[in-house]
Amino acid sequence: SEAKEEMEKAQREYYLRQQLKAIQKELGEEEESEAVVEEYRRKIEEAGLPEEAKREALRELKRLETIPPHSPEYALIKTYLDWMVELPWNKVTEDQLDIEHARQVLDEDHYDLEEIKERILEYLAVRKLAKERKVTSEEEKEALGAVLCFVGPPGVGKTSLGKSIARALGRKFTRMSLGGMRDEAEIRGHRRTYVGAMPGRIIQAIKRVGTRNPVFMLDEIDKVGMSWQGDPSSALLEVLDPAQNHAFRDHYLDVDFDLSDVIFIATANQLDTIPAPLLDRMEIIALDGYTEYEKLHIAKRYLVPRQLRANGLREDEVVFTDDALRKIIRDYTREAGVRELTRQIDAICRKAAVKI
Ligand SMILES: Nc1ncnc2c1ncn2[C@@H]1O[C@H](COP(=O)(O)OP(=O)(O)OP(=O)(O)O)[C@@H](O)[C@H]1O
Ligand SMILES: [Mg+2]
Repeated sequence: SEAKEEMEKAQREYYLRQQLKAIQKELGEEEESEAVVEEYRRKIEEAGLPEEAKREALRELKRLETIPPHSPEYALIKTYLDWMVELPWNKVTEDQLDIEHARQVLDEDHYDLEEIKERILEYLAVRKLAKERKVTSEEEKEALGAVLCFVGPPGVGKTSLGKSIARALGRKFTRMSLGGMRDEAEIRGHRRTYVGAMPGRIIQAIKRVGTRNPVFMLDEIDKVGMSWQGDPSSALLEVLDPAQNHAFRDHYLDVDFDLSDVIFIATANQLDTIPAPLLDRMEIIALDGYTEYEKLHIAKRYLVPRQLRANGLREDEVVFTDDALRKIIRDYTREAGVRELTRQIDAICRKAAVKI
């Protein structure tokens, strides 16, 4: 029975060692996951989250602490926390509100369009005044929240005007096309319980651009609703409504994000397919097509120098005569804008670059 005792002792030792190993392994992991948790805690502190968002982030962090790192849930929580700490909750650019400077930028980027530039300058001037006078009344805020909508055929400068406005203000620029969007979740995201959930395109764009006050262009707003599920305009209306968009709720984040400092600008090719409630919110600025004369001048002053530069050519290496440009416009393009004209000029520059 002494032999039996020896054997039992050995077995017991083996068992204890195995257990110790398991505990050590667990302790090792624990150290690692503790480091992960501390890292997130620091990031949450630094990200400047508003109170509600911070509470939610810390709540998820607490869950992370109790979950084994191998579980799929762990990765999901980390992804959520990454979104939360990387969003620009308090990152803004300082507006450059000098109207003369804005006029200069608009002129640098666009030929003519005098009335439209004038309207844009008015828009900027109103913002400037409101900021200086610290506007508070609801009506005035409403006026400030007016969403400009550029309407016109392709290639007349709708998108590039938006970029100019951003440049004039010193804001970042981002855009999102509404054409081809199928349901509300694309704008507002999926709840986290949904497999493969992600924030919607608005929040994605905000994260990408890195500030919470960019100029945000909503392209093809006239294509909205053509293939939508559910109510197409309600999510967009909320985004554009200054009375609501300070508390935009993405389903994935599930906390409010403040969009009220974003400047939204919409573009459309036509008016008649824009849902009426959306149309009500916007101030329409129509851009017609260009005349041949206007196209010629846009080409000479803007498109040719730009395409030369883009192809690494000097101004004296390729010269476009007025007659040549007129011929391109007349015989090689058929459009209201200047997109095809840009392409033709680009093609000629490329051919020239090969020969030089
Ligand atoms: N008045 C103008 N002066 C200088 N460049 C112009 C002018 N109008 C258009 N362009 C140039 O033409 C090109 C096409 O313009 P843009 O992309 O803004 O068109 P769009 O109106 O947004 O078209 P779409 O409806 O297809 O989106 C850009 O490179 C833009 O800079
Ligand atoms: Mg465009």
